[in-house]
Amino acid sequence: MNSSSPKPAALPDPARDFSLQGKLALVTGASSGIGRHLAAALAGAGASVALCARRGALVEEEASRLRAAGAAALGVALDVADLTSIEQAYSAIHEHFGRYPDVLVNCAGVALLKPFLEHTPDDFDSVMGVNLRGAFFMAQRAAAEMVKQGGGSIVNIASTAGVRPGGYLSCYGASKAGLVHLSKIMAYELARNQVRVNVVCPGNIQTDMHKDFEDAGFTEALIKRIPQRRFGQSDDLVGAVLLLASDAGRYMTGSVMVVDGGQTVNSL
Ligand SMILES: NC(=O)c1ccc[n+]([C@@H]2O[C@H](COP(=O)([O-])OP(=O)(O)OC[C@H]3O[C@@H](n4cnc5c(N)ncnc54)[C@H](OP(=O)(O)O)[C@@H]3O)[C@@H](O)[C@H]2O)c1
Repeated sequence: MNSSSPKPAALPDPARDFSLQGKLALVTGASSGIGRHLAAALAGAGASVALCARRGALVEEEASRLRAAGAAALGVALDVADLTSIEQAYSAIHEHFGRYPDVLVNCAGVALLKPFLEHTPDDFDSVMGVNLRGAFFMAQRAAAEMVKQGGGSIVNIASTAGVRPGGYLSCYGASKAGLVHLSKIMAYELARNQVRVNVVCPGNIQTDMHKDFEDAGFTEALIKRIPQRRFGQSDDLVGAVLLLASDAGRYMTGSVMVVDGGQTVNSL
């Protein structure tokens, strides 16, 4: 190339926006299934991660696996249904990392497959206490620090059961519908503080929780209702969560992303 040739234009690098270098992400429900997988994916994108769940030994074991792979990771015992436990976890995270999270993935959840007429008040309280109340106060705690830190991203993991009715999922579906709606209100209120709030609604993802559905004998019937004709894996959610957590999703807030192999658009 002689000196008068035009300099080749640098190609844009869209992957750059997905980087989470320099960010701290807190993932609840990180002791198993989707949350554990997402914590590793966030670490892979460059984030430091705080892995939280009630089974402290499991989250610390996973954090140590991530540290051995070169990530900054901490396992913290946390019960999202208990405000004192939330506060203690936040203190432990701040003490370890010297700052508060820029990203919260609210993934802790419990499922209950039961006829509506058989739900007890205890069933109601335990499902709502984790899936809606727990997510609410985790998000409130996270957002309070994000506002002070100048921004952040909250990704709430709801469910397709929160956007479309599913039999025997009255309480679970109501808790997830509440989380979808809550996410939109938070998005509205927090936009001026540069805090984005979005929600991912997975379909059937093969985890421990999903075994309840498989054990109840619904496997064949469920797969027939999924246009892609397969259950999802935790890895199928990574793209949506990295998009929403990172700067790649900077103009997204109040969005509801369904990741379900087409289940909610199947034909009548
Ligand atoms: N699998 C699916 O088909 C599917 C579909 C749609 C939505 N989802 C949602 O995805 C999320 C993850 O589910 P999963 O499938 O990965 O199930 P999972 O393997 O059973 O994981 C649930 C996680 O939530 C944690 N958790 C439960 N209660 C908690 C509490 N009080 N405080 C803190 N953590 C708590 C559990 O950890 P500890 O027991 O250690 O606390 C565990 O890590 C849930 O919100 C679920 O509703 C799953």
